[in-house]
Amino acid sequence: MAEKDILLKVENLKMYFPAEKTLGGKVTNWVKAVDDVSFEVERGKTFGLVGESGCGKTTTGKCILRINNPTEGHIYYNGLDLATASRSEIWNIRREIQLIFQDPYGSLDPRQSCGDILREAIVLGEGRQSRKQVRERVDELLRIVELLPEMADRYPHELSGGQRQRLGIARALACDPKLIVCDEPVSALDVSIQAQVINLFQKIQKELGLTYVFIAHDLAVVRHIADTIAVMYLGHIVEIMDAEEIFRNPVHPYTQALLSAVPITDYDVERSRQRILLEGEVPSPLHAPAGCPFNPRCIYAKDICRKEMPPLKDMGDGHCVACHVCGRK
Ligand SMILES: Nc1ncnc2c1ncn2[C@@H]1O[C@H](COP(=O)(O)OP(=O)(O)OP(=O)(O)O)[C@@H](O)[C@H]1O
Ligand code: SF4
Ligand SMILES: [Mg+2]
Repeated sequence: MAEKDILLKVENLKMYFPAEKTLGGKVTNWVKAVDDVSFEVERGKTFGLVGESGCGKTTTGKCILRINNPTEGHIYYNGLDLATASRSEIWNIRREIQLIFQDPYGSLDPRQSCGDILREAIVLGEGRQSRKQVRERVDELLRIVELLPEMADRYPHELSGGQRQRLGIARALACDPKLIVCDEPVSALDVSIQAQVINLFQKIQKELGLTYVFIAHDLAVVRHIADTIAVMYLGHIVEIMDAEEIFRNPVHPYTQALLSAVPITDYDVERSRQRILLEGEVPSPLHAPAGCPFNPRCIYAKDICRKEMPPLKDMGDGHCVACHVCGRK
């Protein structure tokens, strides 16, 4: 088998935030937002990160972008350990890794026209250029995200949600990134617009050879765009598999429960699939249960589940599951 071309490798990543302190300043409790997470992302592919609110998706993304400084673990970009990279290496990598938010509105200056916003991003990312070069690049970016050239004169508040997200994508593309962390980029959009923007992400990926880490709380959203999907629960990855495999053979009870909420058009699959409905809320990461983090909500939980954390085990072909009961063959 040909060796995989890995652009991003996350190894035993932990991101703990201090939650409670004594009067003397000693931390007595931590929010374990990301707790020992490892995965690899192939160049030119899309890695989907899925899970309910608060499971640590955004924190993982922020660690990749060095917005958060990880408590432990390593992040390798193109084989380079970001923790030990030199300033100039980090400077280049900062341009190559970009972030797209749920709704870029908050980060768009309402006094700047769309053209100004793009011009600023181009100059920041690619350095000094002639006016003509910048103008041509603005036109090119608008073309790539399928916005009309006259949009350059509009202001963010004059755009629809879908157009604003296209502008956010164009701005992220301005400095010619290789990897984009897309944090719930379509969650704020109407369902009909979501599909258009996801198609746009796919088109741009093909055209520019981009790699995506695509974060969503809804499996239906990543289903069509992701090549590999990791399911997170309370700071842990509980299952990683090929995107197609997740609908054919979900193994972890939490993945099965998430899937129960996704409509499947294939009648035979729909009829035969097991339904697990999630009961209760995700516990706070401040009071995470002992053992398997999913045990208070799991209908298969046994004694061992309340004592020991199940390791993420490969069931073959890279399909990895963290479960004492369901992953065993
Ligand atoms: N700077 C911080 N300080 C303290 N706790 C934090 C901080 N950032 C995140 N957290 C906590 O870490 C946990 C994971 O948060 P995160 O934003 O990564 O979740 P998420 O999966 O992106 O959720 P959502 O789907 O709501 O965006 C949450 O409990 C959150 O409150
Ligand atoms: S380890 Fe136990 S509690 Fe956790 S998902 Fe598996 S069966 Fe459920
Ligand atoms: Mg988030």
